[in-house]
Amino acid sequence: MATGDMTIRRQSARKPTSCTKPTITLRGARILLRTPTPSDRREYCSIRTTNDAYFRPWEPRATDGSVPKPAIAFQRMLKAQGDTCRTFLVFESTTNSMIARISCNQIFRGPFQNTIIGYWIIRKHAGKGYMTEALMLALDHIFGDMKLHRVEANLVPKNARSRSLVKRLGFRFEGLAKRYLQIAGRWSDHEHWAITVEEWPRARARLLRSRPARSRTNPARTASRAKRPAAKSHTISR
Ligand SMILES: CC(C)(COP(=O)(O)OP(=O)(O)OC[C@H]1O[C@@H](n2cnc3c(N)ncnc32)[C@H](O)[C@@H]1OP(=O)(O)O)[C@@H](O)C(=O)NCCC(=O)NCCS
Repeated sequence: MATGDMTIRRQSARKPTSCTKPTITLRGARILLRTPTPSDRREYCSIRTTNDAYFRPWEPRATDGSVPKPAIAFQRMLKAQGDTCRTFLVFESTTNSMIARISCNQIFRGPFQNTIIGYWIIRKHAGKGYMTEALMLALDHIFGDMKLHRVEANLVPKNARSRSLVKRLGFRFEGLAKRYLQIAGRWSDHEHWAITVEEWPRARARLLRSRPARSRTNPARTASRAKRPAAKSHTISR
């Protein structure tokens, strides 16, 4: 799909490992998003362990405070990939190092066509605009290839960075859900933010106009980029 300065490719090659799901790759100007494979385990566990204290205040956690070990969480993530969940690992293009994760959770089809997203980026790379770029790619994919209608993000009111991120992407505030989810072991109120496929093209165009020049490669190619890709299209490119 033509996506401004982003080229999105879907690779259908199957890997001869226990993970037989097709790998999907989305390419941006500075980052690459890819669905996880078993070979990502070591790096994933390493960045999760190093950033544990940074993520801890914002992450869902059972009342007993227990958290699965990174290796177990990684295995669950691999296993969960399918019709109701799609996760992308985010890599910095220049270093090829893993820096973030975006999950499309609870994918509902039928008349709902909705997903709830989750995301984090390692501390070292926060505040550089990588997550904005990564979520733009993800939203293009969700509304394009995945053909979903609505994307929801839920955050605790004190998570200013997360709020600023979804606002910048054009999500709308839909209201406050009381005692919605356990964060760091406590039932916490959550703000609901959402965006629909009808809203995304305008939000996307506005974002591309406002992004710092260093994160763009070809601003002239921004018009009509958020249309749905042709049905059955596997390789999406300009
Ligand atoms: C929430 C979180 C994902 C936000 O990530 P982030 O790094 O702040 O997001 P971005 O990479 O888009 O950076 C945004 C900031 O960088 C600035 N920026 C710097 N360079 C930029 C560029 N090239 N393009 C766009 N923005 C850029 C933006 O202006 C923005 O600042 P602002 O928020 O003051 O407006 C991150 O803080 C995080 O992982 N936190 C811990 C886990 C968490 O809270 N997860 C979410 C739970 S709901």
